[in-house]
Amino acid sequence: MAVRWPAEAVWEQVAPVLPGFTVEVLPELDSTNSELMRRARGGSLEPILLVAEQQTAGRGRLGRAWQSQAGASLTFSLGLPLAPADWSGLSLAVGVSIAESLDPAVQLKWPNDLWVRDRKLGGILVETASFGAGSAEAGRYAVVGVGLNIAARRAEGLSTPPAALQDLDAAADAGTTLLRIAPPLVQALQAFASFGFKPFQARFEARDALRDRPVALSDGNAGTAHGVSEAGSLLVHTAAGMQAISSSEVSVRPATTRS
Ligand code: BTN
Repeated sequence: MAVRWPAEAVWEQVAPVLPGFTVEVLPELDSTNSELMRRARGGSLEPILLVAEQQTAGRGRLGRAWQSQAGASLTFSLGLPLAPADWSGLSLAVGVSIAESLDPAVQLKWPNDLWVRDRKLGGILVETASFGAGSAEAGRYAVVGVGLNIAARRAEGLSTPPAALQDLDAAADAGTTLLRIAPPLVQALQAFASFGFKPFQARFEARDALRDRPVALSDGNAGTAHGVSEAGSLLVHTAAGMQAISSSEVSVRPATTRS
C-alpha cells in the first residue's frame, strides 16, 4: 500500500525553528545519507529532511548494509549545519529523541541502535561534511540518517529477527511515524548544539538496554555495562577496571539474553 507522507505537516512544525528547511520524498535512492553527503560536498548546505521510499544501497555503521523494504520501513536523513562545542554523544542524543518519540518499550543499545526486547528496531548513522575550510564561514554539515522497521520482515541471515514498530502499535505506519519523530529530532539537535550530550545522559540511561548486564566487546574485552559518561562513552567494568569505550569502531553485545 502506498504510504501517505505528511511532508507539509512536518514542514509546518519544523520551518519556524529551522529557517530554510525543506522536506523531500523520493521513490528511490541509493541511500539518503549518501545523497545528502554528495549534496553537501557540492555546496548544498540547507537544512533538509530527505525521505526515500526505497534505498538500493542503504548503509549502516561499521560499513554494514542497511536492508529495508518500501512500505515496511522508514528511511530518512536530516541534514543541517550544526556547530556544537563538542560532537561527542551526538548519535546517542539522536537515539534518545527518537526512542522518546516512539514508545516506552523502545530501548537504546549503545551507541545508536534502537531496540525492543533485545531485538533491533532501527539504527542511526551520523556523518558530517566540513565546509568553508579556512574561511570565516567554516563549519560542519551533519547528516543524521535513521532507519526504522515499521512492519515485520524476513530475518535475512540475521541471528535474531528484527523488531518492528507494528509489534508495539499495529496501526503504526511510516508516514505517521515520521511526523512523530522528525520535529522533536530537530529540537533535540538544536539542544545538542547548545548544551552537548550532558542533558541527554540520564535520558539515555533510562532506556539503556545494556545497563548492569554482562557485555562482550568486539575488541575482545568483556565486562559489565554501567551506563554512559557525560561524553557518551560506554562505561564497562572489566577485569582491568572501569573502561570508557568511545571508539565508534568497537561494537558491543550483551553476553546473555534476557529471559
Ligand atoms: C546502523 O544500524 O548501523 C545504522 C543504520 C542507519 C540506516 C539509515 S536508513 C536512512 C539512512 N541512509 C542510509 O544509508 N543509512 C541511514
